[in-house]
Parts: sequence; structure tokens; C-alpha cells
Amino acid sequence: MLVFMLLSIFFTGRYLKHLGYEVRYVRNFTDVDDKIIARANELGEHPISLSRRYCDEFNQDMVHLNCLPPSFEPRVSDHMPQIIDMIKQIVDNGYAYRVESDVFFSVEKFPDYGQLSGRKLDDNRAGERVAVDSRKRNPADFALWKSAKEGEPFWESPWGPGRPGWHIECSAMSTAYLGHAFDIHGGGMDLVFPHHENEIAQSCAACKQSNISYWIHNGFVTVDSEKMSKSLGNFFTIRQVIDLYHPLALRLFLMGTHYRSPINYSDVLLESASERIFYIYQTLHDCENVLSQHDKGLQDSIPPDTLNVINKFHNDFLASVSDDLHTPVVLAALSDPLKTINDLLHTRKGKKQTMRMESVAALEKIIRNVLSVLGLMPTSYSEALQQLREMALKRAKLTEDQILQKIEERTEARKNKDYEKSDAIRKDLAVVGIALMDSPNGTSWRPAIPLPLQEQQVAAT
Ligand SMILES: *[C@@H]1O[C@H](CO)[C@@H](O)[C@H](O)[C@H]1NC(C)=O
Ligand SMILES: *[C@@H]1O[C@H](CO)[C@@H](O)[C@H](O)[C@H]1NC(C)=O
Ligand SMILES: *[C@@H]1O[C@H](CO)[C@@H](O)[C@H](O)[C@H]1NC(C)=O
Ligand SMILES: *[C@@H]1O[C@H](CO)[C@@H](O)[C@H](O)[C@H]1NC(C)=O
Repeated sequence: MLVFMLLSIFFTGRYLKHLGYEVRYVRNFTDVDDKIIARANELGEHPISLSRRYCDEFNQDMVHLNCLPPSFEPRVSDHMPQIIDMIKQIVDNGYAYRVESDVFFSVEKFPDYGQLSGRKLDDNRAGERVAVDSRKRNPADFALWKSAKEGEPFWESPWGPGRPGWHIECSAMSTAYLGHAFDIHGGGMDLVFPHHENEIAQSCAACKQSNISYWIHNGFVTVDSEKMSKSLGNFFTIRQVIDLYHPLALRLFLMGTHYRSPINYSDVLLESASERIFYIYQTLHDCENVLSQHDKGLQDSIPPDTLNVINKFHNDFLASVSDDLHTPVVLAALSDPLKTINDLLHTRKGKKQTMRMESVAALEKIIRNVLSVLGLMPTSYSEALQQLREMALKRAKLTEDQILQKIEERTEARKNKDYEKSDAIRKDLAVVGIALMDSPNGTSWRPAIPLPLQEQQVAAT
């Protein structure tokens, strides 16, 4: 399976591999474009060195989010010969024209222009916001090669020194690694037009055999229902989010929305993803503990009830993910096997089930396998639980010692039948996202959605 994609968040690669495909996955780095050049000039830094820094940070974010590394990560600045070759082919095939040292693609030469976005050439005119370069034959024509300008990096070409237009790079780099025909091309919804439309036009103009079977486009992130953007001031980076939330909680949150829909970022949803993933890992960690204490060998078979839960979960997983990566459905389907485990481990009825350990082991295994394919499997449950607790402490601005002291004060208050005080302590902690759990052997704590956000959530439903 040949895949060219900008963001690997929706775990396409992991799932395709799980289905048995060999995946060649290419993720571009755009290190030469208007925005980077403008930013670099502002900072007095060379554009290539600035973009190397961005690339490194981006790669670190992807590692934190547990995204598989791509097979290739081509950078525009390393692919000038391929880009220039492709422009030459387009010019030779009669789809582009030269004006001085610039080369433009002529959209009128490509009758299929608009096939991806469903736009007509006339529509484009109405939507224009920027002044049209009067040298273009048609306002929708776009630059394949731009002549060198003061303060911009440039490369030699048959048309004179300059740099590639924005669109040609992806066509040239995908062709270099995947050939003219490949399976999946992904990107943000905002790239459908004009970027991907122009890519199709260029690639087909360069080579008639060009053919991409599937285009997948992901939705935007919105913050409290507004589109996230630098100009609205509601922009933040993955780094800022994972400073306060576990990266796997962020991943769970991202997968909780179908990739094509807008992702609604809000503290409540991130808190709720954190609580959810804590519950998942805690349940699986309990399985591990119970199984490690069980010294008798396990039988090979499992009870029919457990088998039903497992089969239903596995079928839901395959059906929903194979249906255009409907991850929210799988995440919801996790509830059933997790609940079954908790019943077996903690309820009186569950504890009496025959072949209970066999059931627990089989349920843990199927959940673990699915979590691995979803990229949600931590290195160890106990380590992830500890990290989730530390994140919760950081958000609550409390240390573990402070919480243990509050627990002691509360136990003392309860001994003295001062229930007003003990309730106040519990509530104060709940407000900052720390839940107390009483059991016969004492009181322990776990992260929870802070009370004010829980109330907001209830009010919203
Ligand atoms: C990959 O290419 C797209 C389209 O040019 C661009 O928007 C995106 O920023 C690039 N990705 C990276 C990581 O540079
Ligand atoms: C493009 O690829 C698809 C799927 O592999 C195939 O059905 C179709 O015939 C191809 N189209 C062209 C123009 O080669
Ligand atoms: C997004 O989240 C905000 C805040 O929780 C909520 O008010 C809004 O209705 C949500 N929007 C969508 C489209 O779900
Ligand atoms: C009490 O026992 C349970 C189960 O054995 C354990 O998970 C929990 O951490 C213990 N609580 C305390 C406060 O020691």
C-alpha cells in the first residue's frame, strides 16, 4: 500500500499493516515556502535552518503521539532536481507557459481541472482575494517556478534562478517515492482546493498514468467551536497540550472524533479522555496483577459468554475501522469488554464465575491487541498510570504529599464524626480533579474530571 500523507494522526499505517499490507508511507517536509521564508527573514535566520528546527520539533510531537515513523520524509530542498524535471515534463507536454523567469501551469489545458473539489473554473474568479498576477493567461493559473527575489533562497533552473511554486513539490516528491500511481493521498480539508486540485493537474500533465486511488482529508481543530487559528489567538501547539495532558490521552481524544469531522478541542473533552484512558489502563493493570498472582496454569478454552463479548468487540473493531476509519465506534465498543473484566475482578457474582482467570486473560489480550493497532498501548500500564497521576497533580497544582496529608486530615475528621469537614476536603479535591476512593483498607486517590467541568458537561447534555 503506497501512502502519501501530511499527518499520520489517524493511524492509517498501523491499521493497514494490521490487515497485512506492506505500507510505504511518505510524509513531506515543506522547507521552502512563502511562510517559512517570511518567518525566517523576520527572525534573521536562514529559512532552511529554521525549517530544520520546525521539522525536528514536529517529529518529536509525532513520536509523543505514538505515530509510526514514515518510510521516507522527503524535504523540498533535497528534491530540486526531481521538481525541475517534473516542471520540464509539464512544459514539454504543453501544459505550462513561461513568462520571463516564471513558469505557470495553464488550467485551461487540463479539462479535468476541478474534479477533486467539484469546483468550476468560473467559481474561482469570484472567490479571489489577492490581486491577480497580470502575466497569467487565466487567473486560476498557478506558478510552477518562481524567479529569484531579493532575500529568498534560490536554485538554478532552465528558466533561470528561482524556487518551486508551492504545489509542485508534493507532486514531485510523491512521484519520486511512490511512482505515478499510488493508493492513498491524505491531507487537511483546507488543502483540497487549490493544493490537491493543482497536484492532480500537474501530475497528470507530467504523466498520463498518474492515478491516486483514494484521497483522504481530515477536519480542522476547533477550539470551543471556533476554528483554531493564529489570528484568533486560540492557537496552541501539541507541546503545550502535552505539558498538562498525557500524550496518549491526547491521542485518545483525537481518535474520539471521526477524522473528517472538525475536532472540537476543549478542556472538558481532554479531561474526559484522560479519565477514560486512566480507567482503561487501570482495568488492564488489575488484570495483569490478578493473573500474575494466579499460579495454576490456564486452560485453553474460554467460557461461551466471554467468547461472545470478545467476538462482538473484534467484529465491531474491524467493521468500524474498515468503514472509513470510524475510530469513535471502536472506542465506544471498548466499554463492553472492560466492564466484563471489572465485573469478573470486583463483583461478588463475577468472582464466582467458572474459568474466571481464562476469561480475564482472553479479554485483556484482545483489548491489548486492539489498543496496539490504535497506537494507544503504553510501554507499561503501571508506568502510564503513574504518568497520568503526575499530570493530574500538575493540573491540580498539588503534590502527592499534599494529597496524602488531606486524606489523613479527612480520615481524622471522619473518626471524630466531623462529616462537614471530611466532605469539604473531598469536595476541594474534586474541584481540582482529584477523586478519593474509600475502601476497607483505607482511602486512595485517582485523577478525575474536575467537578466544575463535570457539572458543565452535565448541563450541556
Ligand atoms: C506537507 O505539505 C503540505 C502541503 O504543501 C503542507 O501544508 C505541510 O505543512 C507539509 N508538512 C510539513 C510537515 O512540512
Ligand atoms: C486508477 O486506479 C484505479 C484503482 O486502482 C483503477 O480502477 C483505475 O482504472 C485507474 N485509472 C486510470 C486512469 O489508470
Ligand atoms: C464544542 O465544544 C464546546 C465547548 O465544550 C461546545 O459548547 C460546542 O457545542 C461543541 N461543538 C460541537 C460542534 O460539538
Ligand atoms: C487497598 O487494597 C486495594 C486492593 O487490594 C488496593 O488496590 C489499594 O491500593 C489499597 N488501598 C490502600 C490505601 O492501601
